[in-house]
Order: sequence, then structure tokens, then C-alpha cells
Amino acid sequence: MPWVREAVPDQSGRIALVTGASGGIGLETARVLASRGAHVILACRGAERAREALSGAGGSTEAVRLDLASLESVRGAAAEVRRRHGRLDLLINNAGVMFPPYRCTADGFEAHVGVNHLGHFALTGLLLDLLAGVPGSRVVTVASLAHRVGSGGFGAVRAQSAGGWRSVTAYGRSKLANLLFARALQRRLAAAGARTVSVAAHPGLSPTGLWHGELPAPLRPVVAAALRWPAQPVRAAALPSLRAATDPAVPGGAYLGPAGVFGSRGVPVPARSSRLSRDAAAQERLWELSEELTGVRYGFGPVPADGTASGVCPVTGARG
Ligand SMILES: NC(=O)c1ccc[n+]([C@@H]2O[C@H](COP(=O)([O-])OP(=O)(O)OC[C@H]3O[C@@H](n4cnc5c(N)ncnc54)[C@H](OP(=O)(O)O)[C@@H]3O)[C@@H](O)[C@H]2O)c1
Repeated sequence: MPWVREAVPDQSGRIALVTGASGGIGLETARVLASRGAHVILACRGAERAREALSGAGGSTEAVRLDLASLESVRGAAAEVRRRHGRLDLLINNAGVMFPPYRCTADGFEAHVGVNHLGHFALTGLLLDLLAGVPGSRVVTVASLAHRVGSGGFGAVRAQSAGGWRSVTAYGRSKLANLLFARALQRRLAAAGARTVSVAAHPGLSPTGLWHGELPAPLRPVVAAALRWPAQPVRAAALPSLRAATDPAVPGGAYLGPAGVFGSRGVPVPARSSRLSRDAAAQERLWELSEELTGVRYGFGPVPADGTASGVCPVTGARG
């Protein structure tokens, strides 16, 4: 049976936080979760966009200000969520930027990796204890087909110069980081016996603001025409995230994406990912670097590739 929107189970009583919920796939994800009864926190960087999103989301929603390009903002958002809520069922790391001209975040990280990965790494670490004791809780991280053009080299994250920089590989690197992070997190959660699982998803291709936001106006119709065949509407593009978040049959560590040719469109199914994204050593290197760069330490020690380490869960105190 293909997994369609109607397959999203009842979410009554659950609290979900969706980053990048001001538009595109994030807003659609938030809308569907709210329509199924979840209370949804729309994490948005701009007040105006947040207001528009709240009015379009329906159901039970609230907004929190979050700019992933600033660790101070990430800390502020996490503190605000903690002030308002004692627990979270779903954290959906969806926000993203693609192909902005070279720039750095407030903390001096290259923007793609800074926003798409490091901001989410910090946010997840600061909120994880709200999820960890909740049965069925999940962290969903949105990656991309483009992770395949990411070759690692995360040391470049700290670079302060555009010399030798290419936007396509920088975006690919950030999406590779999303997958490496999702898997490293799952290994840690499993080893610690936490109730939360970490799952990744990618939407295929969809003609959202991601493709237009930073493009010069004359290029927008060209991109729109190029996307017409391979892309799918936002409603369909949100399904991999929705399935990753709500299908009880999806296990921790899974990666979902569209079933169609090249994975650009279709119903959500288990997706393939590059060998590098599955490399436990690369996952561990990125984890250590991310803790160092963000200053957010999860409290989990390094975990062997088979995830068999046992120990005390730093967030629940449970013994793994
Ligand atoms: N569309 C595709 O074809 C495609 C393909 C593969 C993967 N993806 C992934 O899908 C996810 C959603 O993208 P989308 O297609 O829905 O794009 P979108 O319509 O451009 O939405 C991106 C969202 O991220 C938010 N955002 C950007 N920078 C932010 C920051 N510094 N702090 C907080 N939020 C920020 C945007 O907020 P503002 O409204 O303030 O700009 C917006 O809500 C991204 O992770 C993207 O990489 C998309």
C-alpha cells in the first residue's frame, strides 16, 4: 500500500516542533501534523513570516523565533521552548538554505553548514532531554539527494574566505552532514537505551522557495521550467518527513525518500544514501567537530560503529 497523506496516524496529544515552518515543506509538514491533532510549534526566523504561517497552518499551533544562523538565537529558542513545554514528541529539523552567495553565520561558519547542520545540531542537543523520556519520540532530519555531492572536508566550515568555494558542493556537504548527524545520533540513542529514535528523510525535488529565494529574478523562470518534469508538489514532498515522523513501522536510523526514478518524486519509501553517509568514522569525526564548534555537548561518549556500547543515558539516566 503506498504511504499517502491519509496514512498519517492520529497525533492528538503530541507536541511537534518544525524548523523552517514559515513556508515550503516545513509549513506543509506542520499543517498536516496539526490537522491530525498535534500541537505544533512553528520555529521561524522572521516575525512577519511566522504570523503568516500561523494563520495558514490551522489546528493548534504557536510560533517560536529561531534563526539557525546564530547560536545565540538557537539557545534562546531552546530556552523559550523549555519555558513553555515540559516535553516534545517530535523535533523536525527541516529548515535549510541552498546556494546563497558566500557568507558566514553570526558565529563565523559557512552558511550552508552553519544553518543546515550546525544550527540543527545545537538545537537538537539543547532539546533532547525534552524528547528522551517520551515513548515514540523522534528526531527527523531533512537531508537531500544532493548529499551525494558532499565530499566531507568539514574543516572548511570555519573558512572565512570564498576562495575555492562552490555553492553546489557546500550545499551537498551540509546535506551529507545532516545524514551523518542523524545516524550518529541514532547510534548514541540506541546505545544509551533512550526512547527517542533518529530518522532522516529527503523530499526529492520540489519547486519551493529554496530554488528561488536567492536566485536572480531572470533565472527563476528557467529554474521553474527545469524542475517541471522531475519535481513534485510540496504536498507530496512533505510525505517522507511525515512518514519518518509518524509511521510506527519506520525504525531508528532509517532514511526515507520518494520511490520514483532518481528519487526525485513519488511515495515515501526507504531511500539509498552514499557510502560516505554510512561511514561511522566520518559520522564520529563530524560529531566531535560539531560539539567543538557549537559548544553544545550531548553528554554521550563515542559509540562503536555497531552501536553496542552500553552506558547511562545522559538525558534519561536510563542504563543502556
Ligand atoms: N525543495 C527541494 O527540492 C528540496 C530538495 C532536497 C532537500 N530539500 C530540503 O528540504 C528542506 C525544506 O526546504 P524547502 O524546499 O521547503 O525550502 P523553503 O521553501 O525555502 O523553506 C526553507 C525554510 O527554512 C527557513 N530558513 C532558512 N534559513 C533559516 C535560518 N537561518 N533560520 C531558521 N530558518 C531558516 C526558511 O525561513 P524563511 O521563510 O525565513 O526564509 C524556510 O522556512 C531543506 O532542508 C532543504 O534542504 C528541499
